[in-house]
Amino acid sequence: MTAPPDQRPAHAAEAPVLWVEIIAGTSDPAWPAVVALRERVFGREQRISEATASDPDDARSLHALAWMETANPDGLDRRLVGTGRITLDRAGRNEALIAWVATAPEVRQRGIGTAVMRALVAEADAAGIGETLLAAQRHAEGFYGRLGFFATGAPYAVHGIPHRWMIRTRG
Ligand SMILES: CC(C)(COP(=O)(O)OP(=O)(O)OC[C@H]1O[C@@H](n2cnc3c(N)ncnc32)[C@H](O)[C@@H]1OP(=O)(O)O)[C@@H](O)C(=O)NCCC(=O)NCCS
Repeated sequence: MTAPPDQRPAHAAEAPVLWVEIIAGTSDPAWPAVVALRERVFGREQRISEATASDPDDARSLHALAWMETANPDGLDRRLVGTGRITLDRAGRNEALIAWVATAPEVRQRGIGTAVMRALVAEADAAGIGETLLAAQRHAEGFYGRLGFFATGAPYAVHGIPHRWMIRTRG
Protein backbone atom coordinates (compact mmCIF):
# COMPACT_ATOMS: atom_id res chain seq x y z
CA MET A 1 0.00 0.00 0.00
CA THR A 2 2.63 2.50 0.98
CA ALA A 3 6.12 2.58 -0.39
CA PRO A 4 8.83 5.21 -0.24
CA PRO A 5 9.64 6.88 -3.56
CA ASP A 6 12.82 4.85 -4.07
CA GLN A 7 10.76 1.63 -4.00
CA ARG A 8 8.22 2.77 -6.55
CA PRO A 9 8.27 1.09 -9.94
CA ALA A 10 10.23 2.98 -12.56
CA HIS A 11 7.16 3.11 -14.80
CA ALA A 12 3.79 3.68 -13.22
CA ALA A 13 1.29 0.99 -14.11
CA GLU A 14 -2.29 1.75 -15.05
CA ALA A 15 -3.27 1.59 -11.38
CA PRO A 16 -2.29 4.71 -9.40
CA VAL A 17 0.72 4.38 -7.13
CA LEU A 18 0.27 5.57 -3.57
CA TRP A 19 2.95 6.28 -1.02
CA VAL A 20 3.18 8.14 2.28
CA GLU A 21 6.07 10.33 3.35
CA ILE A 22 6.75 12.21 6.57
CA ILE A 23 7.99 15.78 6.53
CA ALA A 24 9.05 17.89 9.51
CA GLY A 25 7.81 21.44 9.93
CA THR A 26 6.68 23.82 7.24
CA SER A 27 9.81 24.54 5.18
CA ASP A 28 9.50 21.49 2.89
CA PRO A 29 8.62 22.39 -0.75
CA ALA A 30 5.53 20.16 -0.40
CA TRP A 31 4.09 22.22 2.44
CA PRO A 32 1.83 24.45 0.25
CA ALA A 33 0.11 21.29 -1.05
CA VAL A 34 -0.73 20.35 2.55
CA VAL A 35 -2.26 23.78 3.19
CA ALA A 36 -4.22 23.56 -0.07
CA LEU A 37 -5.67 20.14 0.85
CA ARG A 38 -6.59 21.37 4.33
CA GLU A 39 -8.29 24.43 2.87
CA ARG A 40 -10.21 22.25 0.45
CA VAL A 41 -11.42 19.75 3.08
CA PHE A 42 -11.73 21.78 6.28
CA GLY A 43 -12.32 25.17 4.69
CA ARG A 44 -14.51 24.66 1.65
CA GLU A 45 -16.06 21.24 2.45
CA GLN A 46 -16.56 21.57 6.21
CA ARG A 47 -16.58 25.38 6.41
CA ILE A 48 -14.24 25.59 9.40
CA SER A 49 -12.88 29.11 8.99
CA GLU A 50 -9.64 28.51 10.91
CA ALA A 51 -8.60 26.01 8.26
CA THR A 52 -7.00 28.83 6.35
CA ALA A 53 -5.25 30.37 9.35
CA SER A 54 -1.65 29.58 10.20
CA ASP A 55 -1.27 27.14 13.06
CA PRO A 56 1.75 27.63 15.31
CA ASP A 57 2.02 23.87 15.97
CA ASP A 58 2.65 23.13 12.27
CA ALA A 59 6.27 24.30 12.39
CA ARG A 60 7.16 21.94 15.27
CA SER A 61 5.15 18.94 14.09
CA LEU A 62 5.55 16.01 11.72
CA HIS A 63 3.20 15.76 8.75
CA ALA A 64 2.19 12.64 6.81
CA LEU A 65 1.71 13.25 3.10
CA ALA A 66 -0.06 10.64 0.95
CA TRP A 67 0.84 11.04 -2.72
CA MET A 68 -0.93 9.46 -5.64
CA GLU A 69 0.81 9.12 -8.97
CA THR A 70 -1.06 8.28 -12.15
CA ALA A 71 0.31 7.70 -15.64
CA ASN A 72 -1.13 9.84 -18.40
CA PRO A 73 -0.07 10.43 -22.02
CA ASP A 74 2.01 13.45 -20.96
CA GLY A 75 3.88 11.65 -18.20
CA LEU A 76 3.22 11.18 -14.51
CA ASP A 77 0.63 13.16 -12.60
CA ARG A 78 1.53 13.42 -8.91
CA ARG A 79 -0.91 14.91 -6.43
CA LEU A 80 -1.37 15.07 -2.68
CA VAL A 81 -4.47 13.08 -1.70
CA GLY A 82 -4.09 12.71 2.07
CA THR A 83 -2.53 14.46 5.02
CA GLY A 84 -2.34 14.44 8.81
CA ARG A 85 -0.20 15.94 11.56
CA ILE A 86 1.36 14.68 14.77
CA THR A 87 2.86 16.89 17.47
CA LEU A 88 5.14 14.72 19.57
CA ASP A 89 6.33 16.97 22.36
CA ARG A 90 2.95 18.18 23.49
CA ALA A 91 3.37 20.44 26.50
CA GLY A 92 6.59 18.62 27.39
CA ARG A 93 4.65 15.49 28.30
CA ASN A 94 5.11 11.94 26.99
CA GLU A 95 2.04 12.58 24.88
CA ALA A 96 1.33 13.24 21.21
CA LEU A 97 -1.54 15.00 19.48
CA ILE A 98 -2.81 14.11 16.00
CA ALA A 99 -4.76 16.70 14.01
CA TRP A 100 -5.72 17.83 10.49
CA VAL A 101 -6.34 14.30 9.12
CA ALA A 102 -7.93 14.62 5.69
CA THR A 103 -8.32 12.71 2.43
CA ALA A 104 -9.33 14.35 -0.84
CA PRO A 105 -13.07 13.70 -1.28
CA GLU A 106 -12.79 11.89 -4.61
CA VAL A 107 -10.43 9.21 -3.25
CA ARG A 108 -12.00 8.40 0.13
CA GLN A 109 -12.86 4.83 1.21
CA ARG A 110 -9.70 3.48 -0.40
CA GLY A 111 -7.51 3.18 2.68
CA ILE A 112 -5.63 6.47 2.24
CA GLY A 113 -6.71 7.89 5.61
CA THR A 114 -5.72 4.61 7.24
CA ALA A 115 -2.28 4.77 5.61
CA VAL A 116 -1.81 8.36 6.83
CA MET A 117 -2.84 7.42 10.36
CA ARG A 118 -0.57 4.37 10.44
CA ALA A 119 2.38 6.55 9.41
CA LEU A 120 1.60 9.05 12.19
CA VAL A 121 1.12 6.38 14.84
CA ALA A 122 4.40 4.76 13.76
CA GLU A 123 6.15 8.09 14.46
CA ALA A 124 4.64 8.19 17.95
CA ASP A 125 5.72 4.62 18.63
CA ALA A 126 9.23 5.24 17.30
CA ALA A 127 9.52 8.26 19.62
CA GLY A 128 8.42 6.14 22.61
CA ILE A 129 5.27 8.22 23.15
CA GLY A 130 2.96 6.64 25.74
CA GLU A 131 -0.35 8.21 24.78
CA THR A 132 -1.55 9.71 21.52
CA LEU A 133 -4.68 11.86 21.54
CA LEU A 134 -6.93 13.33 18.88
CA ALA A 135 -10.13 15.32 18.78
CA ALA A 136 -12.26 13.14 16.51
CA GLN A 137 -15.16 14.37 14.52
CA ARG A 138 -17.81 11.90 15.56
CA HIS A 139 -18.45 10.60 12.05
CA ALA A 140 -14.83 9.38 12.10
CA GLU A 141 -14.95 7.57 15.48
CA GLY A 142 -15.19 4.16 13.81
CA PHE A 143 -12.30 5.02 11.51
CA TYR A 144 -10.04 5.95 14.46
CA GLY A 145 -11.39 3.07 16.55
CA ARG A 146 -10.12 0.57 14.03
CA LEU A 147 -6.69 2.17 14.45
CA GLY A 148 -6.60 1.50 18.19
CA PHE A 149 -8.09 4.75 19.53
CA PHE A 150 -10.73 4.75 22.28
CA ALA A 151 -13.25 7.50 22.96
CA THR A 152 -12.81 9.36 26.23
CA GLY A 153 -14.79 12.11 27.90
CA ALA A 154 -18.06 13.68 26.87
CA PRO A 155 -18.95 14.68 23.31
CA TYR A 156 -18.68 18.38 22.47
CA ALA A 157 -19.12 20.59 19.41
CA VAL A 158 -16.66 22.80 17.51
CA HIS A 159 -18.08 25.01 14.76
CA GLY A 160 -21.28 22.97 15.13
CA ILE A 161 -19.43 19.72 14.34
CA PRO A 162 -19.77 17.02 17.04
CA HIS A 163 -16.39 15.91 18.42
CA ARG A 164 -15.04 13.54 20.99
CA TRP A 165 -11.55 13.07 22.38
CA MET A 166 -9.96 9.73 21.57
CA ILE A 167 -6.79 8.20 22.95
CA ARG A 168 -4.41 5.42 21.97
CA THR A 169 -2.00 3.90 24.46
CA ARG A 170 1.22 2.44 23.10
CA GLY A 171 1.04 -1.34 23.07
C1 LIG B 1 -11.98 10.69 7.94
C2 LIG B 1 -11.20 10.56 6.63
C3 LIG B 1 -9.81 11.19 6.79
C4 LIG B 1 -11.05 9.09 6.26
O1 LIG B 1 -10.25 9.02 5.09
P1 LIG B 1 -10.34 7.79 4.06
O2 LIG B 1 -9.19 7.93 3.13
O3 LIG B 1 -11.69 7.69 3.47
O4 LIG B 1 -10.08 6.58 5.07
P2 LIG B 1 -10.01 5.02 4.76
O5 LIG B 1 -10.40 4.75 3.34
O6 LIG B 1 -8.72 4.55 5.24
O7 LIG B 1 -11.10 4.45 5.71
C5 LIG B 1 -12.41 4.96 5.63
C6 LIG B 1 -13.39 3.87 5.55
O8 LIG B 1 -13.21 3.14 4.35
C7 LIG B 1 -13.03 1.78 4.67
N1 LIG B 1 -12.02 1.32 3.71
C8 LIG B 1 -10.70 1.32 3.86
N2 LIG B 1 -10.10 0.82 2.77
C9 LIG B 1 -11.09 0.51 1.91
C10 LIG B 1 -11.13 -0.03 0.61
N3 LIG B 1 -10.00 -0.39 -0.04
N4 LIG B 1 -12.33 -0.18 0.00
C11 LIG B 1 -13.48 0.18 0.65
N5 LIG B 1 -13.51 0.68 1.91
C12 LIG B 1 -12.31 0.85 2.52
C13 LIG B 1 -12.59 1.72 6.07
O9 LIG B 1 -12.98 0.50 6.67
C14 LIG B 1 -13.29 2.90 6.66
O10 LIG B 1 -14.59 2.58 7.08
P3 LIG B 1 -15.48 3.61 7.93
O11 LIG B 1 -15.96 4.66 6.99
O12 LIG B 1 -16.61 2.80 8.47
O13 LIG B 1 -14.58 4.22 9.00
C15 LIG B 1 -11.98 11.25 5.46
O14 LIG B 1 -13.31 10.79 5.48
C16 LIG B 1 -11.97 12.77 5.50
O15 LIG B 1 -11.03 13.41 5.04
N6 LIG B 1 -13.04 13.38 6.05
C17 LIG B 1 -13.15 14.84 6.08
C18 LIG B 1 -12.18 15.43 7.07
C19 LIG B 1 -12.37 14.84 8.43
O16 LIG B 1 -13.49 14.73 8.92
N7 LIG B 1 -11.24 14.48 9.05
C20 LIG B 1 -11.25 13.90 10.38
C21 LIG B 1 -11.20 15.00 11.37
S1 LIG B 1 -11.20 14.34 13.04
